[in-house]
Amino acid sequence: MFSKKSLGFSSLVILFIVGIFMVSCKSGDSSNGGNAANDSSARTAAQNGSLSASAEQIAAERDLSPQDVEAALKTYIPSGKHDEYLMFSSGGHSGQVFVIGVPSMRLLKVIAAFTPEPWQGFGFGSEESMKVLKEGDMESGKELRWADTHHPALTETDGEYDGEFLFINDKANARVAVIDLRDFETKQMIKTPNIISDHGSTFVTPNSEYVIQASQYATTLPFSEYAGMDEYQEKFRGLIAFHKFDRDKGRIVEEGSFQMELPPYWQDLCDAGKKVSEGWVFCNSINTELATGGIEQGLPPFEAGVSQRDMDYMHVINLNKAVEVAKQPGKTQEISGVKVIPLDVAVSEGLLYFIPEPKSPHGVDVTPGGEYLVVSGKLDTHATIYGFDLIQKAIKEENFEGEDVYGVPILKYNDVVAAQLEIGLGPLHTQFDNEGNAYTSVFIESTLAKWKLGPPYNTGEDAWTLTEKVPVQYNIGHNVCAEGDTVSPDGKYCVALNKWSIDRFSPVGPLLPQNFQLIDVSGDKMQVLYDMPIGVGEPHYVQMIKADKLNPFPVYPEVGYNPGTMSVNPNAAKAGQEKIVRSDGKVEVWMSAIRSHFNPEHITVNEGDEVILHITNVERARDATHGFAIEGYNINLSLEPGEASTVKFTADEPGVFPFYCSEFCSALHLEMMGYLLVEPKN
Ligand code: CUA
Repeated sequence: MFSKKSLGFSSLVILFIVGIFMVSCKSGDSSNGGNAANDSSARTAAQNGSLSASAEQIAAERDLSPQDVEAALKTYIPSGKHDEYLMFSSGGHSGQVFVIGVPSMRLLKVIAAFTPEPWQGFGFGSEESMKVLKEGDMESGKELRWADTHHPALTETDGEYDGEFLFINDKANARVAVIDLRDFETKQMIKTPNIISDHGSTFVTPNSEYVIQASQYATTLPFSEYAGMDEYQEKFRGLIAFHKFDRDKGRIVEEGSFQMELPPYWQDLCDAGKKVSEGWVFCNSINTELATGGIEQGLPPFEAGVSQRDMDYMHVINLNKAVEVAKQPGKTQEISGVKVIPLDVAVSEGLLYFIPEPKSPHGVDVTPGGEYLVVSGKLDTHATIYGFDLIQKAIKEENFEGEDVYGVPILKYNDVVAAQLEIGLGPLHTQFDNEGNAYTSVFIESTLAKWKLGPPYNTGEDAWTLTEKVPVQYNIGHNVCAEGDTVSPDGKYCVALNKWSIDRFSPVGPLLPQNFQLIDVSGDKMQVLYDMPIGVGEPHYVQMIKADKLNPFPVYPEVGYNPGTMSVNPNAAKAGQEKIVRSDGKVEVWMSAIRSHFNPEHITVNEGDEVILHITNVERARDATHGFAIEGYNINLSLEPGEASTVKFTADEPGVFPFYCSEFCSALHLEMMGYLLVEPKN
């Protein structure tokens, strides 16, 4: 049965490809799609079939070029088949995470991370989600309900994505969210103490022991202390946080977490060393000028002040040693309840070094084997490649050109640069493939540049050569390639994360979607296959993982499961034991949900009562999700099969309030409802 089916499928493809060949011959271009027709079996199949003619007709009617048809064939996923890769994309200002299939570029899910999301019942009453959102609030209790999500980071084992957890940062408020990929739900949110802005986050060490988060705009340390701009050099600081991740708990934990004080440069992107450079962390910085702006006073604006010097400083941090220093008494200072390694200790213990890097660098990306760091400068046309071995040698020999105003030793640029390569205007970020190639996004040019790494990846004349550029539409920020920032990238696909789309889609008003472009990098020439509009900005960075590495629950493992603890809640409502318990000023309800009723259906309370509902979806069938919404009370839960959830509220609105299942679960879904009757006080 299987072989027959696959034979049928492959001959269909052959016929379709032959169709392309015919179209391509007609248009006088046989550079693409022609190879299949050299196959004699394909020719025979074409002679025997009629599909090629209809494929040709469709292509002609839809005005598709042979390249278009080839791109369509490479991205089409038949109904019921799954994508080979999944992308986890920052949801930008939505504060969420998008899950997108590759090569189909279909949006599979929006994971609620920092922002309330009604469909998943995130932030609309369920105790589990309200707790997570509250964790991310300011210490004062001020609610933060938006985020500028930037860099997702999948957990790694030995430098490979393991598909277990995902971290994502909020640049706007210096927060990190932890998503469990067993149920694709956010389990924890950290409002990082001491800092209020971050960009270089999140990155993980090769075994995910630490989640790395560097501040961006320098502030006082902690930011809650006041200082004027004239005290910038003296009182403002940068900072890098190393959040200890406990994989068994699935949480970032206080014990083992620490921070390191940095000069008030604006720390930008970071990357963790891997393989030969494991145990080290590399971060770019800008504003080594210590510019303080003040355009309104006739002072140089930030954009000019921050771009004066030819060189900024890459921060080279000895993380393994920092972990040891952070454990030693007297070596850290407690600020806002967190251990912080002061800057002078970081210098005296040899934890921090600087390397000059060309004008306003942005991305720093470690090669798969950890041998090199690729840095691209926004205002420089090169990729500058530093050798980790050269850095180690210079540190060992204490071969410094001097120190910065804060006493941090600066390595000699020429001693640690392994290569420099002219890439184009505005290179930003680099990813890698399995054949020794690097792919750098080039913002101003709107291209993706492919180039060859040096030894051990390529030797002789091949090493450090630019091989190809493909235009993208438009203004590419990050790019991602399949597992392209791990120790073993896959190649095959890259995606350009374009900030502008301009004319690529139907006009939808002055606020335009951004454009993800899928690029086939498996052949001799890179080929743009697909444009995917992203209607929520700004989806900043993405990681792409082989889909079969993920192993999510089909349904929660047992009935009564609490996603907050990832275990059965002994107090969860059980089928057959539904009840309403009243005490003074309090009504507690144990309720079950199953197609197509809630039990109980009538809940009568007094105005002002505290109401606690424990609701369990007792279904075991896959996809049999129920919702629970109370009208007029801003409550909506999503109860996936097996899930038990609790919602607490004060019945402060008197009257009659239907509650209903907000998921279309069955033919009698409309009838899956009940009444909350709130008796007025008087
Ligand atoms: Cu249950 Cu609709």
